[in-house]
Amino acid sequence: MSANRREVILGVGAGIAAYKSADLLRRLHDRGYYVTVVPTPSSLNFVGAATWEALSGRPALTQVWESVHQVAHISLAKNAGFFIIAPATADLIARIAVGRADDLLTNLVLSSDVAKMIVPAMHPNMWNNAATKANVETLRARGFIIMEPDTGRLTGSDSGQGRFPEVSRIVEEFDSMTGNTQDFTGRKILIAAGGTREAIDPVRFIGNRSSGKQGISLARAAQLRGADVYLVAANMDTSTLDGISITHVESAREMQQALQRDFPSSDVLIMCAAVADARPVQTLADKIKKALFTSIELEPNPDLLAELASTKVQQVLIGFAAETKDHLESARAKLKAKALDIIYVNDVSNGAIFGKDVTHGTILLRNGEEIALKEVSKDALADLLLDHAKRQLG
Ligand code: C5P
Repeated sequence: MSANRREVILGVGAGIAAYKSADLLRRLHDRGYYVTVVPTPSSLNFVGAATWEALSGRPALTQVWESVHQVAHISLAKNAGFFIIAPATADLIARIAVGRADDLLTNLVLSSDVAKMIVPAMHPNMWNNAATKANVETLRARGFIIMEPDTGRLTGSDSGQGRFPEVSRIVEEFDSMTGNTQDFTGRKILIAAGGTREAIDPVRFIGNRSSGKQGISLARAAQLRGADVYLVAANMDTSTLDGISITHVESAREMQQALQRDFPSSDVLIMCAAVADARPVQTLADKIKKALFTSIELEPNPDLLAELASTKVQQVLIGFAAETKDHLESARAKLKAKALDIIYVNDVSNGAIFGKDVTHGTILLRNGEEIALKEVSKDALADLLLDHAKRQLG
């Protein structure tokens, strides 16, 4: 497992502003980040683990003694691309500055060398205290990005510098640290993902093994880069996506309708859906009896991608292929036949890739360039494909 630039650790310290980090977490999701919340034990007095787990959809561990068999303080640190610690109390800043490792969060900070941002929030007397000032200076000198707290009214009647900054300002600063370039701002990206199902009767269907994971990675990556993302999702779990327009479909013909509606106004179409090549000539209203269930008459489905390609104006078209043999030859043929700009071919022999987080295959470009990928995460592939799409968009 290696660091993933979309994976973020949100450390939460024991300040009253912890409740504002619930909103921060949502905004980070909207920007396409995957977030694991690591609260300090005393912060749970303000916001409980249940809130973090519900909002992030992931466990919220506080101690190295939980899930010991998974060695969380090392595995989480290895996977994280960035840290954001918000709110950070004077005590948490002090513990990080001296290199303590007395809870999971400080363990993670010590064992990871990725970029880290700290958002302090405390009483002005504590922020202006010489000890805190020295600790902040020490951490800045070590490369931590430390935001200046806002000035204004505090929780009690006092006012001064120490307020938790506006969430929008925190997200802006965080994006600039992560290098979130927003190079697709104002662009509409249409993605079809998952696997279509063709009904045989009310119970049975013709389907395939596509999990939709690559589509989730693409939607997240495009969103993170500022695109307006429209996802046509066939029989896949989209519960981790926020802020994306999703149309759920079941069959190839439903997918065709959704794509025809959104394609003309799109800049990029990414077809990573596994579309059933054929459908039953008839869908029966009643379940077929076992004894009669011996054959199904099929007719071909339209090739959605080829059809859309024939109506394209300026859109960049990206196709996917899954092959068990001769994958390069058939991908080259599909790139031409479907008039695509880019195709990615997965080698799916032995059931590899379906439902996994990593893929291996080759990106083929219209100009004949071919880029072989050994074993990359589906997130990384998503960014690579978007890089190529960006070049073709000009
Ligand atoms: O199935 P095939 O290998 O031809 O798929 C290549 C590309 O064409 C994929 O991007 C897939 O989503 C798309 N396709 C389609 N309509 C079909 C079959 C495939 O759009 N009926």
